[in-house]
Amino acid sequence: MVSNPSSNDNAGNQRVNRRDFLKLCSMVAATLSLPAAFGKEIARALGAASRLPVVWLEFQDCTGDSESFLRLGPMADPIQTGVTNPGLTDLLLDVISLDYHETLMAPSGFNAEKSLADTLQNYPGQFLCVVEGAIPAGNNGVYCTIAGKTALSRVQEITAKARATIAVGTCAWEGGLAAAAPNPTGALGVKDAVPGLANLINMPGCPMNVANLAAVIVHLVAFNQPPELDANRRPKFAYGRKIHEVCERKYYHDNDMFVRMWGDEGHRLGWCLRGMGCKGPDTYSNCPNIRWNDATCWPVAAGHGCIGCTQPHFWDNMAPFYESNADA
Ligand code: SF4
Ligand code: F3S
Repeated sequence: MVSNPSSNDNAGNQRVNRRDFLKLCSMVAATLSLPAAFGKEIARALGAASRLPVVWLEFQDCTGDSESFLRLGPMADPIQTGVTNPGLTDLLLDVISLDYHETLMAPSGFNAEKSLADTLQNYPGQFLCVVEGAIPAGNNGVYCTIAGKTALSRVQEITAKARATIAVGTCAWEGGLAAAAPNPTGALGVKDAVPGLANLINMPGCPMNVANLAAVIVHLVAFNQPPELDANRRPKFAYGRKIHEVCERKYYHDNDMFVRMWGDEGHRLGWCLRGMGCKGPDTYSNCPNIRWNDATCWPVAAGHGCIGCTQPHFWDNMAPFYESNADA
C-alpha cells in the first residue's frame, strides 16, 4: 500500500501531512487538466494503491532526463502559476519503487543485473518501464551494449514484460540528438525500435519535464490507465497546446515589439523573442505553465527563445535555432 497521506522517511520523519498531501493531489489533478474534484479521487486511489515498481533504462543519452528526475521538487500550481510546497518528490517517492536505474542505483555490475532480473521475475506485467535515450540499431546494435546485450535487444525484451512504457525525452521518442543527420548509429526511438508496443507513452523534451512525468505516473497508479493521449501517444495535457498561445510575451508579439539583438532594450524589457528565432509558435508543450527549476522559470522567461525541443527531429527541423523568423 502507498504509505500516504502521512508518510515517513527512513529516519522516521514525517514527509507529507494529510493537508499537504490533499493539496498535492489537487495540483496534480490541475496539471493533468482534470476538474478539481479529481484531487480527492486521486488521493483516495493513491491511499489504496501498491507502490509501482519502476525499471529505468538508459541508452544513447546525456542523462538529462535523469537529471530532470533528480530535480523533482516543488511544482507550479497550474492555475495560479505560483510556487508551492511541499514538493512532488514526497508524493512520487510514495507512489513508486525505483528498483533499477543504472545511474542512480547503489548496486553495479552483476548485482545491478540481479536487481533487474528480480524485478522482471517478481513483477511480470506489473512494473513500469521508463526508457531514456535513443536505441542504436545500426550494425546490429553494436554501438550500445549493456551486460553483453545490445540496447535494441534489451529494450525489446524488457518493454514486452512491462505493464506500460514511458519514453522520456526526445531521444527515446524518435532518436533525438543521436538520430540527427547523418544519424551514424542508426538511432531510433522506442516506437520504432519496438514497433506496435502496447501501452507506450511518449514524453518528448530535451529533457522531459519531471512534473509532467510525475503527473502521468500518478494517473497510471490512481486510475490504472494513462491520461488521454494524442495520435503520437503523448499526454494531451502536456503536449496539447502551442507554447506561443500561453506565452507571457505574447502581448509584445501581437504588438510587433521584438528583441532584435541580445541585450538590446527590448531584451531587457522582456519583449518577444521571435526575432531571435523563438520556435514557440511551432512547439507543443506546457512549459509556460509547468515551468522548470522548481517551477521558478522556463527558457523564454529567462530571455532565451524556445528551440522546439518537444518537436519531432528538432535538431534538424528547428535549426538554425537563432535565425530570425519571417514574421518578426
Ligand atoms: Fe511566441 Fe516565443 Fe514570442 Fe513567446 S517569445 S510570444 S513563444 S514567439
Ligand atoms: Fe523545450 Fe521550448 Fe520548453 S525549448 S523546454 S519546449 S520552452
